[in-house]
Amino acid sequence: MTAAFDFAPLLPADLPPPAAKWTGLAKFSFVGGNNDPEQVPVDGLIDAMSAVLGREGKNLATYNLAHGPQGYLPLRQFLCAKLKRDAGIQAEPDDLLIVSGSLQALDLVNHTLLSRGDTVLVEQETYQGSLNRLTRLGVKTIGIPLDGDGMRMDALATTLAELKTRGVRPKYIYTIPTVQNPTGSIMPEARRLEMLKLSQEYGVPIFEDDCYADLIWDGKRPPAIYAMAKAGGVIHIGSFSKSIAPALRVGFIVAPWEMMSRMLALKTDAGSGALEQMVLAEYCSPHFATHVPKLTKGLRAKLDTLMEALNEQFGTSAEFEAPKGGIFLWVKLPDNVDALKLYQAALAAGVAINPGPEWSTNKAHSACRLRLCFASPSAAQIREGVAVLADVCRKEFGVPVRIANVERTSRA
Ligand SMILES: Cc1ncc(COP(=O)(O)O)c(C=O)c1O
Repeated sequence: MTAAFDFAPLLPADLPPPAAKWTGLAKFSFVGGNNDPEQVPVDGLIDAMSAVLGREGKNLATYNLAHGPQGYLPLRQFLCAKLKRDAGIQAEPDDLLIVSGSLQALDLVNHTLLSRGDTVLVEQETYQGSLNRLTRLGVKTIGIPLDGDGMRMDALATTLAELKTRGVRPKYIYTIPTVQNPTGSIMPEARRLEMLKLSQEYGVPIFEDDCYADLIWDGKRPPAIYAMAKAGGVIHIGSFSKSIAPALRVGFIVAPWEMMSRMLALKTDAGSGALEQMVLAEYCSPHFATHVPKLTKGLRAKLDTLMEALNEQFGTSAEFEAPKGGIFLWVKLPDNVDALKLYQAALAAGVAINPGPEWSTNKAHSACRLRLCFASPSAAQIREGVAVLADVCRKEFGVPVRIANVERTSRA
Protein backbone atom coordinates (compact mmCIF):
# COMPACT_ATOMS: atom_id res chain seq x y z
CA MET A 1 0.00 0.00 0.00
CA THR A 2 1.41 3.43 -0.88
CA ALA A 3 1.66 5.98 1.95
CA ALA A 4 -1.06 8.67 1.97
CA PHE A 5 0.12 11.91 0.39
CA ASP A 6 0.99 14.51 3.04
CA PHE A 7 -0.37 17.98 2.19
CA ALA A 8 0.63 19.46 5.55
CA PRO A 9 4.07 20.84 4.54
CA LEU A 10 2.45 22.66 1.60
CA LEU A 11 -0.14 24.59 3.60
CA PRO A 12 0.44 28.34 4.13
CA ALA A 13 1.05 29.28 7.76
CA ASP A 14 -1.87 31.71 7.93
CA LEU A 15 -4.56 29.19 6.91
CA PRO A 16 -7.55 29.06 9.29
CA PRO A 17 -7.81 25.93 11.48
CA PRO A 18 -9.30 22.90 9.70
CA ALA A 19 -13.10 22.53 9.65
CA ALA A 20 -14.77 19.79 11.65
CA LYS A 21 -16.65 17.08 9.76
CA TRP A 22 -20.44 17.46 9.57
CA THR A 23 -22.08 15.20 12.12
CA GLY A 24 -25.71 16.17 11.53
CA LEU A 25 -28.15 18.38 13.39
CA ALA A 26 -28.92 17.83 17.07
CA LYS A 27 -32.28 16.27 17.96
CA PHE A 28 -33.36 19.63 19.40
CA SER A 29 -31.64 22.30 17.34
CA PHE A 30 -31.91 25.91 18.53
CA VAL A 31 -28.76 26.98 16.67
CA GLY A 32 -27.93 28.88 13.52
CA GLY A 33 -30.11 31.10 11.41
CA ASN A 34 -32.23 28.28 10.04
CA ASN A 35 -35.81 28.88 9.02
CA ASP A 36 -39.13 27.11 9.53
CA PRO A 37 -39.27 24.20 7.04
CA GLU A 38 -43.08 24.39 6.99
CA GLN A 39 -42.89 27.98 5.76
CA VAL A 40 -40.72 27.50 2.70
CA PRO A 41 -43.12 28.31 -0.15
CA VAL A 42 -42.31 25.08 -1.98
CA ASP A 43 -45.29 25.02 -4.36
CA GLY A 44 -44.76 28.63 -5.36
CA LEU A 45 -41.06 27.99 -5.95
CA ILE A 46 -41.85 24.93 -8.11
CA ASP A 47 -44.25 27.00 -10.26
CA ALA A 48 -41.74 29.83 -10.50
CA MET A 49 -38.93 27.47 -11.46
CA SER A 50 -41.00 25.85 -14.17
CA ALA A 51 -42.19 29.17 -15.60
CA VAL A 52 -38.82 30.90 -15.62
CA LEU A 53 -36.89 27.91 -16.95
CA GLY A 54 -39.44 27.38 -19.71
CA ARG A 55 -39.13 31.02 -20.72
CA GLU A 56 -35.45 31.81 -20.15
CA GLY A 57 -33.70 28.50 -19.49
CA LYS A 58 -31.52 28.75 -22.58
CA ASN A 59 -29.86 31.83 -21.10
CA LEU A 60 -28.11 29.50 -18.64
CA ALA A 61 -25.68 28.80 -21.49
CA THR A 62 -24.11 32.21 -20.84
CA TYR A 63 -22.27 33.21 -17.65
CA ASN A 64 -24.46 35.57 -15.63
CA LEU A 65 -27.29 34.93 -18.12
CA ALA A 66 -25.77 37.82 -20.11
CA HIS A 67 -27.11 40.20 -17.40
CA GLY A 68 -23.63 41.19 -16.24
CA PRO A 69 -21.70 40.45 -13.06
CA GLN A 70 -24.09 42.30 -10.75
CA GLY A 71 -26.81 39.67 -11.12
CA TYR A 72 -30.09 38.75 -12.84
CA LEU A 73 -31.75 42.03 -13.80
CA PRO A 74 -35.37 41.14 -12.86
CA LEU A 75 -34.16 40.22 -9.35
CA ARG A 76 -32.34 43.52 -8.99
CA GLN A 77 -35.45 45.31 -10.27
CA PHE A 78 -37.62 43.48 -7.73
CA LEU A 79 -35.19 44.45 -4.98
CA CYS A 80 -35.14 48.11 -6.03
CA ALA A 81 -38.94 48.26 -5.78
CA LYS A 82 -38.98 46.36 -2.47
CA LEU A 83 -36.20 48.44 -0.90
CA LYS A 84 -37.99 51.64 -1.90
CA ARG A 85 -41.34 50.46 -0.52
CA ASP A 86 -40.06 48.92 2.73
CA ALA A 87 -36.84 50.72 3.59
CA GLY A 88 -37.10 54.04 1.73
CA ILE A 89 -33.99 53.24 -0.31
CA GLN A 90 -33.83 54.89 -3.74
CA ALA A 91 -31.59 52.59 -5.74
CA GLU A 92 -31.17 51.65 -9.38
CA PRO A 93 -30.32 48.09 -10.46
CA ASP A 94 -26.72 49.22 -11.03
CA ASP A 95 -26.43 50.12 -7.33
CA LEU A 96 -27.07 46.47 -6.44
CA LEU A 97 -24.85 43.41 -6.48
CA ILE A 98 -26.39 39.97 -6.01
CA VAL A 99 -24.12 37.76 -3.90
CA SER A 100 -23.97 34.17 -2.66
CA GLY A 101 -25.69 34.87 0.65
CA SER A 102 -24.96 38.00 2.62
CA LEU A 103 -21.93 36.17 4.04
CA GLN A 104 -20.30 36.86 0.70
CA ALA A 105 -21.36 40.48 1.12
CA LEU A 106 -19.50 40.57 4.45
CA ASP A 107 -16.40 39.13 2.77
CA LEU A 108 -16.50 41.57 -0.14
CA VAL A 109 -16.96 44.62 2.07
CA ASN A 110 -14.25 43.41 4.44
CA HIS A 111 -11.74 42.63 1.72
CA THR A 112 -12.38 45.99 0.08
CA LEU A 113 -11.89 48.04 3.23
CA LEU A 114 -9.85 46.14 5.79
CA SER A 115 -6.19 45.39 6.40
CA ARG A 116 -4.60 43.55 9.30
CA GLY A 117 -4.39 45.82 12.36
CA ASP A 118 -7.39 47.99 11.39
CA THR A 119 -10.12 48.83 13.89
CA VAL A 120 -13.86 48.44 13.37
CA LEU A 121 -16.76 49.22 15.70
CA VAL A 122 -19.49 46.64 16.19
CA GLU A 123 -22.45 46.15 18.49
CA GLN A 124 -21.26 44.50 21.70
CA GLU A 125 -23.60 41.59 21.02
CA THR A 126 -23.45 40.79 17.34
CA TYR A 127 -23.44 38.17 14.62
CA GLN A 128 -20.84 35.48 15.21
CA GLY A 129 -20.16 35.19 11.45
CA SER A 130 -19.10 38.84 11.40
CA LEU A 131 -16.96 38.57 14.54
CA ASN A 132 -15.18 35.45 13.26
CA ARG A 133 -14.40 37.05 9.94
CA LEU A 134 -12.92 40.12 11.59
CA THR A 135 -10.80 38.02 13.94
CA ARG A 136 -9.49 35.97 11.03
CA LEU A 137 -8.52 39.17 9.21
CA GLY A 138 -6.53 40.36 12.22
CA VAL A 139 -8.85 43.33 12.70
CA LYS A 140 -9.48 44.86 16.13
CA THR A 141 -13.19 44.88 16.99
CA ILE A 142 -14.50 47.27 19.60
CA GLY A 143 -17.95 46.39 20.95
CA ILE A 144 -20.36 49.25 21.63
CA PRO A 145 -22.97 48.39 24.30
CA LEU A 146 -26.64 48.06 23.35
CA ASP A 147 -29.89 48.97 25.06
CA GLY A 148 -33.46 48.20 24.07
CA ASP A 149 -33.12 50.50 21.04
CA GLY A 150 -29.89 49.00 19.69
CA MET A 151 -26.36 50.44 19.71
CA ARG A 152 -25.99 53.19 22.32
CA MET A 153 -25.04 56.48 20.72
CA ASP A 154 -23.50 57.94 23.89
CA ALA A 155 -21.11 54.99 23.99
CA LEU A 156 -20.41 55.26 20.25
CA ALA A 157 -19.65 58.99 20.60
CA THR A 158 -17.28 58.38 23.52
CA THR A 159 -15.46 55.58 21.71
CA LEU A 160 -15.07 57.57 18.49
CA ALA A 161 -13.75 60.58 20.42
CA GLU A 162 -11.33 58.46 22.42
CA LEU A 163 -10.03 56.69 19.32
CA LYS A 164 -9.54 60.03 17.60
CA THR A 165 -7.32 61.27 20.43
CA ARG A 166 -5.19 58.17 19.77
CA GLY A 167 -5.10 58.86 16.03
CA VAL A 168 -7.26 55.81 15.21
CA ARG A 169 -9.89 56.14 12.47
CA PRO A 170 -12.07 52.99 12.48
CA LYS A 171 -12.78 51.54 9.06
CA TYR A 172 -16.50 51.19 9.65
CA ILE A 173 -19.33 50.97 12.18
CA TYR A 174 -21.05 47.60 11.67
CA THR A 175 -24.67 47.58 12.77
CA ILE A 176 -27.69 45.28 12.52
CA PRO A 177 -30.22 48.03 13.25
CA THR A 178 -33.45 46.36 12.16
CA VAL A 179 -34.06 43.28 14.34
CA GLN A 180 -30.63 43.06 15.87
CA ASN A 181 -28.90 39.68 16.02
CA PRO A 182 -28.97 38.37 18.74
CA THR A 183 -30.97 40.84 20.86
CA GLY A 184 -33.92 41.49 18.50
CA SER A 185 -34.14 45.28 18.97
CA ILE A 186 -35.06 47.79 16.27
CA MET A 187 -33.13 51.05 16.26
CA PRO A 188 -35.55 54.00 16.11
CA GLU A 189 -35.23 56.61 13.36
CA ALA A 190 -33.90 59.33 15.68
CA ARG A 191 -31.03 57.10 16.79
CA ARG A 192 -30.23 56.22 13.18
CA LEU A 193 -29.90 59.96 12.53
CA GLU A 194 -27.57 60.32 15.49
CA MET A 195 -25.43 57.50 14.16
CA LEU A 196 -25.26 59.16 10.76
CA LYS A 197 -24.17 62.44 12.38
CA LEU A 198 -21.38 60.68 14.26
CA SER A 199 -20.38 58.79 11.14
CA GLN A 200 -20.03 62.05 9.23
CA GLU A 201 -18.33 63.92 12.06
CA TYR A 202 -15.62 61.27 12.38
CA GLY A 203 -15.45 60.20 8.72
CA VAL A 204 -16.31 56.59 9.54
CA PRO A 205 -18.71 54.81 7.16
CA ILE A 206 -21.65 52.72 8.37
CA PHE A 207 -21.99 49.10 7.33
CA GLU A 208 -25.71 48.33 7.69
CA ASP A 209 -26.68 44.64 7.81
CA ASP A 210 -30.45 44.34 7.33
CA CYS A 211 -30.57 40.54 7.25
CA TYR A 212 -33.73 40.22 9.40
CA ALA A 213 -35.53 43.40 8.33
CA ASP A 214 -38.39 41.52 6.66
CA LEU A 215 -39.30 39.62 9.82
CA ILE A 216 -40.96 42.28 11.99
CA TRP A 217 -44.11 41.29 13.86
CA ASP A 218 -46.08 44.43 13.08
CA GLY A 219 -44.40 44.94 9.69
CA LYS A 220 -43.38 48.49 10.65
CA ARG A 221 -39.79 49.56 10.35
CA PRO A 222 -37.86 52.83 10.28
CA PRO A 223 -36.15 53.80 7.03
CA ALA A 224 -32.82 52.12 6.37
CA ILE A 225 -29.79 54.13 7.46
CA TYR A 226 -28.71 53.94 3.81
CA ALA A 227 -31.93 55.74 2.84
CA MET A 228 -31.38 58.48 5.43
CA ALA A 229 -27.76 59.21 4.47
CA LYS A 230 -27.93 62.35 2.40
CA ALA A 231 -24.15 62.46 2.02
CA GLY A 232 -23.63 58.73 1.36
CA GLY A 233 -21.10 56.83 3.44
CA VAL A 234 -23.33 53.78 4.03
CA ILE A 235 -23.10 50.26 2.65
CA HIS A 236 -26.31 48.25 2.96
CA ILE A 237 -26.63 44.47 2.75
CA GLY A 238 -29.61 42.14 2.84
CA SER A 239 -30.60 38.56 2.22
CA PHE A 240 -33.34 36.20 1.09
CA SER A 241 -32.15 33.68 3.68
CA LYS A 242 -34.58 34.73 6.36
CA SER A 243 -37.57 35.67 4.20
CA ILE A 244 -37.49 32.72 1.78
CA ALA A 245 -34.77 30.12 2.55
CA PRO A 246 -31.11 30.19 3.63
CA ALA A 247 -30.02 27.23 1.50
CA LEU A 248 -30.73 29.24 -1.66
CA ARG A 249 -27.68 31.38 -0.82
CA VAL A 250 -28.89 34.68 -2.26
CA GLY A 251 -28.08 38.02 -0.71
CA PHE A 252 -27.36 41.52 -2.01
CA ILE A 253 -25.30 44.64 -1.51
CA VAL A 254 -26.40 48.22 -2.12
CA ALA A 255 -23.40 50.51 -2.43
CA PRO A 256 -22.09 53.53 -4.31
CA TRP A 257 -20.13 52.77 -7.48
CA GLU A 258 -16.86 53.73 -5.83
CA MET A 259 -17.28 50.70 -3.52
CA MET A 260 -19.24 48.56 -5.97
CA SER A 261 -16.51 48.69 -8.62
CA ARG A 262 -13.93 47.54 -6.03
CA MET A 263 -16.14 44.73 -4.76
CA LEU A 264 -16.86 43.55 -8.30
CA ALA A 265 -13.14 43.30 -8.88
CA LEU A 266 -12.91 41.02 -5.82
CA LYS A 267 -15.91 38.82 -6.70
CA THR A 268 -14.07 36.24 -8.71
CA ASP A 269 -16.71 33.48 -8.89
CA ALA A 270 -18.05 34.54 -12.30
CA GLY A 271 -21.42 35.37 -10.76
CA SER A 272 -23.63 33.89 -8.06
CA GLY A 273 -25.88 30.91 -8.91
CA ALA A 274 -28.26 32.01 -11.66
CA LEU A 275 -31.03 29.47 -11.12
CA GLU A 276 -31.73 30.68 -7.58
CA GLN A 277 -31.81 34.27 -8.78
CA MET A 278 -34.25 33.43 -11.59
CA VAL A 279 -36.56 31.47 -9.30
CA LEU A 280 -36.52 34.16 -6.63
CA ALA A 281 -37.33 36.95 -9.07
CA GLU A 282 -40.15 34.92 -10.59
CA TYR A 283 -41.60 33.94 -7.19
CA CYS A 284 -41.04 37.17 -5.28
CA SER A 285 -42.42 39.70 -7.76
CA PRO A 286 -46.02 38.45 -7.34
CA HIS A 287 -45.82 36.65 -3.97
CA PHE A 288 -43.27 38.21 -1.58
CA ALA A 289 -45.69 40.74 -0.10
CA THR A 290 -48.21 38.05 0.86
CA HIS A 291 -45.66 35.38 1.85
CA VAL A 292 -43.86 37.48 4.48
CA PRO A 293 -46.84 38.27 6.79
CA LYS A 294 -47.74 34.55 6.83
CA LEU A 295 -44.15 33.69 7.70
CA THR A 296 -43.90 36.24 10.51
CA LYS A 297 -47.24 35.14 11.98
CA GLY A 298 -45.92 31.59 12.25
CA LEU A 299 -42.59 32.76 13.70
CA ARG A 300 -44.35 34.91 16.28
CA ALA A 301 -46.38 31.87 17.39
CA LYS A 302 -43.17 29.84 17.77
CA LEU A 303 -41.59 32.64 19.80
CA ASP A 304 -44.59 32.53 22.14
CA THR A 305 -44.16 28.76 22.48
CA LEU A 306 -40.48 29.22 23.33
CA MET A 307 -41.14 31.95 25.89
CA GLU A 308 -43.89 29.89 27.51
CA ALA A 309 -41.63 26.83 27.63
CA LEU A 310 -38.82 28.85 29.22
CA ASN A 311 -41.18 30.36 31.79
CA GLU A 312 -42.53 26.93 32.60
CA GLN A 313 -39.19 25.11 32.77
CA PHE A 314 -36.80 27.79 34.02
CA GLY A 315 -39.19 30.07 35.93
CA THR A 316 -37.41 33.25 36.99
CA SER A 317 -34.01 31.72 36.16
CA ALA A 318 -34.41 32.67 32.50
CA GLU A 319 -34.64 36.38 31.75
CA PHE A 320 -35.41 37.75 28.29
CA GLU A 321 -37.03 40.59 26.37
CA ALA A 322 -39.43 39.54 23.62
CA PRO A 323 -37.76 40.51 20.32
CA LYS A 324 -39.62 42.75 17.86
CA GLY A 325 -39.15 40.23 15.07
CA GLY A 326 -36.65 37.75 13.70
CA ILE A 327 -35.90 34.18 14.69
CA PHE A 328 -33.85 34.47 17.90
CA LEU A 329 -34.40 34.89 21.61
CA TRP A 330 -31.45 36.18 23.68
CA VAL A 331 -31.68 34.66 27.13
CA LYS A 332 -29.90 35.44 30.39
CA LEU A 333 -29.50 32.62 32.92
CA PRO A 334 -28.28 33.05 36.52
CA ASP A 335 -24.73 34.39 36.86
CA ASN A 336 -23.29 31.04 37.94
CA VAL A 337 -24.26 29.40 34.64
CA ASP A 338 -21.34 29.07 32.24
CA ALA A 339 -23.00 29.09 28.81
CA LEU A 340 -19.99 27.48 27.12
CA LYS A 341 -20.11 24.55 29.55
CA LEU A 342 -23.89 24.37 29.29
CA TYR A 343 -23.51 24.22 25.50
CA GLN A 344 -21.32 21.10 25.75
CA ALA A 345 -23.52 19.34 28.29
CA ALA A 346 -26.73 20.20 26.43
CA LEU A 347 -25.29 18.97 23.14
CA ALA A 348 -24.44 15.64 24.76
CA ALA A 349 -28.16 15.44 25.72
CA GLY A 350 -29.26 16.25 22.16
CA VAL A 351 -29.96 20.00 22.56
CA ALA A 352 -27.94 22.47 20.50
CA ILE A 353 -27.80 26.10 21.70
CA ASN A 354 -25.61 29.05 20.78
CA PRO A 355 -23.55 30.09 23.84
CA GLY A 356 -23.49 33.85 24.43
CA PRO A 357 -19.71 34.43 24.39
CA GLU A 358 -19.60 33.46 20.71
CA TRP A 359 -21.99 36.33 19.93
CA SER A 360 -20.36 39.08 21.94
CA THR A 361 -17.18 41.10 22.29
CA ASN A 362 -17.75 41.17 26.05
CA LYS A 363 -17.06 37.64 27.26
CA ALA A 364 -17.89 38.41 30.91
CA HIS A 365 -21.27 39.99 30.12
CA SER A 366 -22.26 37.18 27.78
CA ALA A 367 -20.89 34.29 29.90
CA CYS A 368 -24.33 33.31 31.24
CA ARG A 369 -26.32 34.18 28.11
CA LEU A 370 -27.52 32.12 25.18
CA ARG A 371 -29.13 32.60 21.83
CA LEU A 372 -32.00 30.32 20.88
CA CYS A 373 -33.35 30.07 17.33
CA PHE A 374 -37.08 29.34 17.47
CA ALA A 375 -37.72 29.22 13.71
CA SER A 376 -36.45 25.78 12.77
CA PRO A 377 -37.64 23.46 15.60
CA SER A 378 -41.32 22.49 15.66
CA ALA A 379 -43.51 23.64 18.57
CA ALA A 380 -43.25 20.14 20.10
CA GLN A 381 -39.45 20.15 19.73
CA ILE A 382 -39.30 23.59 21.33
CA ARG A 383 -41.23 22.37 24.38
CA GLU A 384 -39.32 19.12 24.76
CA GLY A 385 -35.95 20.66 23.95
CA VAL A 386 -36.38 23.40 26.57
CA ALA A 387 -37.38 20.79 29.17
CA VAL A 388 -34.22 18.77 28.45
CA LEU A 389 -32.14 21.97 28.54
CA ALA A 390 -33.59 22.89 31.95
CA ASP A 391 -32.69 19.44 33.28
CA VAL A 392 -29.15 19.66 31.99
CA CYS A 393 -28.78 23.15 33.42
CA ARG A 394 -30.04 22.06 36.83
CA LYS A 395 -27.69 19.05 36.90
CA GLU A 396 -24.69 21.16 35.90
CA PHE A 397 -25.36 24.41 37.75
CA GLY A 398 -28.14 23.77 40.26
CA VAL A 399 -30.60 26.07 38.45
CA PRO A 400 -33.51 26.25 37.87
CA VAL A 401 -34.20 25.13 41.45
CA ARG A 402 -37.95 25.54 41.25
CA ILE A 403 -40.56 25.71 38.52
CA ALA A 404 -43.84 27.44 39.22
CA ASN A 405 -42.95 27.11 42.90
CA VAL A 406 -42.59 23.34 42.62
CA GLU A 407 -39.25 21.82 43.57
CA ARG A 408 -37.56 20.55 40.44
CA THR A 409 -36.96 16.82 40.12
CA SER A 410 -34.86 15.35 37.35
CA ARG A 411 -36.53 13.86 34.32
CA ALA A 412 -35.79 10.20 33.87
C1 LIG B 1 -26.71 39.46 10.88
C2 LIG B 1 -26.45 38.46 9.82
N1 LIG B 1 -25.83 38.85 8.70
C3 LIG B 1 -25.56 37.99 7.71
C4 LIG B 1 -25.91 36.66 7.81
C5 LIG B 1 -25.58 35.74 6.68
O1 LIG B 1 -26.73 35.27 6.06
P1 LIG B 1 -26.76 34.69 4.59
O2 LIG B 1 -25.37 34.50 4.10
O3 LIG B 1 -27.51 33.42 4.69
O4 LIG B 1 -27.49 35.74 3.78
C6 LIG B 1 -26.56 36.19 8.95
C7 LIG B 1 -26.96 34.78 9.07
O5 LIG B 1 -27.54 34.29 10.00
C8 LIG B 1 -26.83 37.12 9.99
O6 LIG B 1 -27.43 36.74 11.11
